[in-house]
Amino acid sequence: MSQRSLTIEEHFTAEDRRAVLEHDARVGLTASQKRLSPIWFYDERGSALFDEITRLPEYYPTRAERGLLESAATEVVELARADTLVELGSGTSEKTRVLLDALVARGSCRYVPLDVDPDTLLAAATALTEEYPGLDVHAVAGDFLRHLDLLPQEGRRLVAFLGSTLGNLMPAERHRFFTDLDSSLSSFDRLLLGVDLVKDRARLEAAYDDAAGVTAEFNRNALRVVNRELDADFDPAAFDHVARWVPEQRWIEMRLRARSVQVVRVAGLDLVVHFDEGEELLTEISAKFSPDGIAAELWDAGFVVERTWQAGDDDFLLVLAKPYC
Ligand code: SAH
Ligand code: AVI
Repeated sequence: MSQRSLTIEEHFTAEDRRAVLEHDARVGLTASQKRLSPIWFYDERGSALFDEITRLPEYYPTRAERGLLESAATEVVELARADTLVELGSGTSEKTRVLLDALVARGSCRYVPLDVDPDTLLAAATALTEEYPGLDVHAVAGDFLRHLDLLPQEGRRLVAFLGSTLGNLMPAERHRFFTDLDSSLSSFDRLLLGVDLVKDRARLEAAYDDAAGVTAEFNRNALRVVNRELDADFDPAAFDHVARWVPEQRWIEMRLRARSVQVVRVAGLDLVVHFDEGEELLTEISAKFSPDGIAAELWDAGFVVERTWQAGDDDFLLVLAKPYC
């Protein structure tokens, strides 16, 4: 009889979430360039919308990365010789199954998914416990910008950060994230990073502004989260979805543009926010990378690239890296 094991560790409680959201919304909605962190897209509805995005014809990254994982997984696990797969921003853990298949084929192993959305995390962890008898699943509700030092230390770890979620961090945040990650790893641990590459503008902008309008709803979901959790009265339909490639920064910006003057009450913050007609709220950046650029960023934070796998001329890149000291 196989043994199933599922444990849940909570580092991002409802109170933590509330405190971080209050701070982020107060600072972001009163700034001259209004902004919200992309973390607030991901409640149960936002995660389901993201899942839908991954299947859209315009959204190439998930398919490209899955293809790379399918061809590289065996080599990745052989190089890493890991017995523990840690995944940051694991979401539905959909593509992770490709890595888990390769890891399980080498012997028993442990999976440590970490995500800020506890509902999606629990659903994914429960499903994996059913699908992989003998897999030890240790789910962590946490924030990869705050809780890397609380990850389980045991085992030889392969830390996966897939989907180009790295690109949603601001450059300074990215550097701090890599440096913190480097300090929390041992010389035996490995990082498997999936990043989207710079490509032509039309393809990039279509991926973030799909014809069916799913990405637009995902974008507006941030307003629904603020309405529910901070007792605000944003009218999501009064904001247009904007997705724009910014070549100087090499990133896509997702914004919400007020169709007319908006006066929004955020009762939970005792705050009134004014939007002029056409004023934009920045909700996400999605930076795109080059193979040399990402290797240099990793090196600056203490990692050396061991191996890369690339899809197409400029589709997507998988990077296996290790701490160099
Ligand atoms: N890795 C999956 C999901 C990507 S969507 C894939 O490649 O398809 C981004 C995921 O990261 C979401 O599940 C979201 O809840 C999570 N996330 C976003 N910001 C986070 C943070 N600061 N800490 C932990 N998880 C985060
Ligand atoms: C999760 N993250 C990497 C996605 C991206 O492509 O930046 C989020 C997303 N935003 C719009 N579409 C998908």
